[in-house]
Amino acid sequence: MELMDAIRGRRSIRIFDGRPVDKGILEQVLDAATYAPSRMNTQPWHFHVASGDARMRVAEVMAMTTAYLEEYIDVLGPEGVEHAARFYADLGAAPVIIGVASTITEDWNEARDNAISVGAAVQNVLLASYDMGLSSCSISSPHWIRDRLGDVFDLKEGWEVVSLIVLGHGAEEPPERDRHTDVVTYLT
Ligand SMILES: Cc1cc2nc3c(=O)[nH]c(=O)nc-3n(C[C@H](O)[C@H](O)[C@H](O)COP(=O)(O)O)c2cc1C
Repeated sequence: MELMDAIRGRRSIRIFDGRPVDKGILEQVLDAATYAPSRMNTQPWHFHVASGDARMRVAEVMAMTTAYLEEYIDVLGPEGVEHAARFYADLGAAPVIIGVASTITEDWNEARDNAISVGAAVQNVLLASYDMGLSSCSISSPHWIRDRLGDVFDLKEGWEVVSLIVLGHGAEEPPERDRHTDVVTYLT
């Protein structure tokens, strides 16, 4: 697949058919993550891949967030909250849940650059998955369950889960979301 086709064709998928992901393909997808650029090549990421029983344990923790979704009623509206609650109840039956961990830092510059670096790695995972016929969705790491996620992914001291990626064989084909076009200013 051409890179531009992957960039334009990828969608966030939130419903999966439950089929497992081939381990060799998963390894290639995660290998792609490691080629992302990072601040001074610090590579401030670690990928905790949960499948099988581990995936069930992570999904149970994530399901706890449905209790807090009402906080987003103003942004999402009642339908959006209901949709989100359905997704969070079992993460769309995704067979693989990746906890993306990064190092905790009090330094503002480092934190910002870590976030950009991790974002690049996450995008590599999303694009490589799509290229290999898989579907995925990057999801926020909810602050309400920060410690529980740390426990369920068995993180080392000094690391936190900053993002999650659900991965599998998609069972929906959502339309392309609107894109802002007025986002570039050329200086001459
Ligand atoms: C940092 C980040 C956090 C996100 N968090 C969530 C989330 O918590 N729940 C969710 O359903 N989608 C989440 N998404 C997916 C976005 O909703 C999605 O990327 C956006 O609506 C554009 O749709 P597309 O990915 O299909 O182009 C997140 C994406 C990013 C990059």
